[in-house]
Amino acid sequence: MSNTSNENLLGFHSKIERNVTLLLVLSLLVVTIGGIVEIAPLFWIQNTIEKVKGMRPYSPLELAGRDIYVREGCYVCHSQMIRPFRDEVERYGHYSLAAESMYDHPFQWGSKRTGPDLARVGGRYSSEWHLEHLKNPRSVVPESIMPPYAFLANNELDAKAIAAHLVANSRVGVPYNDEMIASAADDMMAQATAGADTTALLGRYPKAVAADFDGNPKVTEMDALIAYLQMLGTLVDFSVYEPDKNQR
Ligand code: HEC
Repeated sequence: MSNTSNENLLGFHSKIERNVTLLLVLSLLVVTIGGIVEIAPLFWIQNTIEKVKGMRPYSPLELAGRDIYVREGCYVCHSQMIRPFRDEVERYGHYSLAAESMYDHPFQWGSKRTGPDLARVGGRYSSEWHLEHLKNPRSVVPESIMPPYAFLANNELDAKAIAAHLVANSRVGVPYNDEMIASAADDMMAQATAGADTTALLGRYPKAVAADFDGNPKVTEMDALIAYLQMLGTLVDFSVYEPDKNQR
């Protein structure tokens, strides 16, 4: 750049800097262009969530367990979002993907960790451990400050209400089909009853963990909560997952 054009440029800039109105108008113009570039593409893309193989809606029992998780305020002490930082990934596993909470209404990311993140707690402990821990956390973790939830094992689940929960979720975009809604109550019972035939259930909800979790032959809130905890973060197979590739 020659000296003269340099001086011209500086001269022009000093004009802007000395004229408040001109400075304001030009600043607004720059901010507007930046804003449009960032925001406008969102109006044309169909979806901001990358599709990921393995994600499926919650099974009826898991959905009931999730409702109990929300009702009991577990999110007050537990987050469900592993951030892409080395310390978190080493402790909890692969960072959370947007797709992993796409069927959550409302999402359970949380903002406080009095206890550990639960986004990938599924399969980390046995169901017996969860039962003991939920009944009395200090029986397995002596220094724990988590409250006990033993009463959940005495509360029977209402099989009549579950289909309506699936319908409500389908209205906000969770892909429950008519067959899933029609068999919601049966699926819920099958997942929490020892020795039940779970073929249809697993066809509809692969990887669902089925067991009589609390040893109470009735299907209880405890069964539902443990079924939910045991599937958290287990649906996506990270040994084959590649970011930025359409997975479907
Ligand atoms: C007052 C805070 C608090 C509340 C409320 C709470 N927890 Fe916890 N939770 C903790 C703390 C602290 C720990 C770590 C010590 C322990 O394992 O008990 C923990 C640990 C856990 C663990 C083991 C996690 C791991 O990776 O070791 C699970 C599972 C769990 N909580 C589930 C729940 C569920 C389900 C609820 C709701 C029914 C709940 N918590 C409510 C504080 C809380």
